[in-house]
Amino acid sequence: MKKIGNFLPHSNQENLKVKKIELSKLEYPYDSLESYIDEKTMEIHHDKHHQTYVDKFNALIEANKELEGRTPKEIIMDIEDVDEKIRTAVRNHGGGVINHNFLWKILKKNTEPKGNILKEIEKEFGNIDKFKEEFKKSAMSLFGSGWTWLVLDDGKLNIINTSNQDSPLSMGMIPLLTIDLWEHAYYLKYQNRRADYIDNFFHVINWEKVNEIFLEENVNG
Ligand SMILES: [Fe+2]
Repeated sequence: MKKIGNFLPHSNQENLKVKKIELSKLEYPYDSLESYIDEKTMEIHHDKHHQTYVDKFNALIEANKELEGRTPKEIIMDIEDVDEKIRTAVRNHGGGVINHNFLWKILKKNTEPKGNILKEIEKEFGNIDKFKEEFKKSAMSLFGSGWTWLVLDDGKLNIINTSNQDSPLSMGMIPLLTIDLWEHAYYLKYQNRRADYIDNFFHVINWEKVNEIFLEENVNG
């Protein structure tokens, strides 16, 4: 059959436009988490490292039209559907974008665990100190770069590690809180002392936000 051309309605033409994503704003000053996480680290982490993931992900969208029109989060959730030729790059750069978006949201100095998330942690781990112990143990066991997460896995709390920029969303899990274990997240202040960084990280978890995420995800299933 002779093909006579592609007549796309206007709305489809619009969809063909390259969709650029932007670096998410940090909703607090760089020095807000001092002295647990220092100002310089926050600045470089957000403005340079996170920006680089955004730039590289935008370059991927530009070169691969099939990535247009969806959020990085949606793409990462369906990572297995991404063409094998670009899947690793999408996982790394898209993951880098959304993992950092998530991280900035759950940071705030000196909040206390409370509410439903605390009850659920006590149910699953015994008490908050045992949870911290488990979380730290997991973070210390991660080889190389990656993340430790508290996730909802089939409705149940669990602690997992992911390598590089892999996201629990690709595994069907819902992130509730996370620590960035790439050296760029702590090396300026802590150098090789990952254990100290993790201990101090417990002072900058925004438990109100974590509880909020937990409640939203529980309601929505
Ligand atoms: Fe990072």
